[in-house]
Amino acid sequence: MSDLKSLIIPDKVPRHIAIIMDGNGRWAKQKGMPRVLGHRSGVKSVREVTEAAAEIGVGFLTLYAFSTENWNRPPAEVTALMSLLVETIKGEIRDLNKNGVRLAAIGDIEALPKSSYKALVEGIEQTKNNQRITLVLALNYSAKWEILRAARQLAEQAKTGQIEPSDIDENMFENALSTRGIPDPELLIRTSGETRISNFLLWQIAYAELYFTPVFWPDFGRKELFEAILSYQRRERRFGMTSEQLAR
Ligand code: IPE
Ligand code: IPE
Ligand code: MG
Repeated sequence: MSDLKSLIIPDKVPRHIAIIMDGNGRWAKQKGMPRVLGHRSGVKSVREVTEAAAEIGVGFLTLYAFSTENWNRPPAEVTALMSLLVETIKGEIRDLNKNGVRLAAIGDIEALPKSSYKALVEGIEQTKNNQRITLVLALNYSAKWEILRAARQLAEQAKTGQIEPSDIDENMFENALSTRGIPDPELLIRTSGETRISNFLLWQIAYAELYFTPVFWPDFGRKELFEAILSYQRRERRFGMTSEQLAR
């Protein structure tokens, strides 16, 4: 395992990794357990992956924890996920501070149940001075929601004459997204074998490298993260140019 780590090229570690943590339910089902136990086991992976990412110098780790579409799940599962969130954040604050992890969130967090919202805001406040890694939780998140909200906000500003429509460029638009101040992810990982984006970071992943693995999220840990990073480092990111140009 430490071997894998030594293969990682320090200069080419992504600044930002985003992960669609998927497969908790199937992991549990495979073991004959209720889905909720899959979510509980997933928390272990969050801990392990955050620490491993911090260790190799990843600056931002964004985890898709709850989508706006996830409200359509059975009410008992939604409730269990929300309590797990509160419990986990409250229980982890000490370790987050010990490990230099700054907590942040993207998504419509004000629409979360009050107790979840409160725990989240407190977690963010109490870890705000940490600088080793920023752990961004995507909660009640939808990329389309985020893009629409930005468009609406800029339209409002144009209407009141604060900006001209022609002022709107990539930079201004990015500043109206909830990821403001966070660099775009260079690497997007999805676990569980599904190969879709599910309304996650549509704008921000315009040029991300995509990595799909069949491993269910509760089985995804340090080793699996390093494998994903090694795959990323073997790729040639051409940004529209030719291989020959890059070699120069
Ligand atoms: C991911 O695991 C966690 C959330 C979406 C909250 P799932 O719960 O989607 O697990 P599967 O995809 O049903 O196996
Ligand atoms: C995406 O997973 C959302 C999260 C990981 C939080 P889902 O399991 O909800 O996505 P679909 O339904 O397979 O697209
Ligand atoms: Mg799923």
